[in-house]
Amino acid sequence: MSSTPAPRVRPRRLRETPAIRRLVSETRLDPAELVLPVFVREGAAAPLPIASMPGVVQHSLDSLPQAIDEAAAVGVGGVMLFGVPAVRDARGSGAIDPDGILNLATRVAVEASAGRLVVQTDLCLDEFTDHGHCGVLDERGRVDNDATLERYTAMALAQARAGSELLGLSGMMDGQVAAVRDALDDAGHHDVSLLAYSAKYASAFYGPFRDAVESTLEGDRRTYQLDPGNRREGLREAMIDIDEGADVVMVKPAGSYLDVLADVAAASEVPVWAYQVSGEYAMIEAAAAHGWIDRKRAVVESVRSIRRAGADVVLTYWAVELAEWIRNGETA
Ligand code: PBG
Repeated sequence: MSSTPAPRVRPRRLRETPAIRRLVSETRLDPAELVLPVFVREGAAAPLPIASMPGVVQHSLDSLPQAIDEAAAVGVGGVMLFGVPAVRDARGSGAIDPDGILNLATRVAVEASAGRLVVQTDLCLDEFTDHGHCGVLDERGRVDNDATLERYTAMALAQARAGSELLGLSGMMDGQVAAVRDALDDAGHHDVSLLAYSAKYASAFYGPFRDAVESTLEGDRRTYQLDPGNRREGLREAMIDIDEGADVVMVKPAGSYLDVLADVAAASEVPVWAYQVSGEYAMIEAAAAHGWIDRKRAVVESVRSIRRAGADVVLTYWAVELAEWIRNGETA
């Protein structure tokens, strides 16, 4: 005689076959909601590998159009451009120069895209400063918020003139969204959208990015990026940015901040994006290279989890490869 009654409720029914699992899937993936970050190196003659990001390269201006083509061909929604200048200074002048690498790359990308995907640019000074901070420093070596806003507005105008459709404000200065919005509007660039990296945490997971943009940082970013332990503050930053006129808000990194992402997604009136950053990429690639993890499954699961937590769009270095898998039905 059996003492355990047969279960009446059987959730396993909806997991029985691939077809039923597909039917009840809550989180589908679509290439259109992926954005590919792209590095462009000044003076590069050919694409250069990035040691800590196997499979990712620094593009040359010549190799950029093909990268845009490949992303567009598989339906990726956009690219986020980063410039790697050959020369840096204390004030990040290369960011504002119309012939600076990022602004040149933007022109090339806009032409190559021909409207097939959204060309976006990183609006921050750290790639362009010799000290590696996201702003200019005062006489005591601290990042000067309001002096930095002036650099950001000049940079925004240079990017808008180069044709960038969406500016990714990743510097974490107070008032940056309002300052840039006003400067763009005053110059007639009403149509350029602003993506605020609202909840950007002071994270160890940006490590490989330093390699990718060849930047060294003096000190750390904890006076402007968020403390990893603070959840409420992430939501607050997003609300402030929406108030200042952000068209899109972002949480970054993604994988370790899914709680913040869920909070922001629940409260936001504007689209919420998340950035799966360089360290998140490097960890999965490294473990997969050792044979310790199933690469494809880990990549798909990591991005799906970010979507499940509430991101409408994911910036990921796997955007093109993942888009191919999605199109081939390999992500079910
Ligand atoms: C700022 C910026 C960074 C990243 C995106 N925009 C660097 C930082 O804030 O330290 C990191 C992206 C990544 O790690 O993949 N320019």
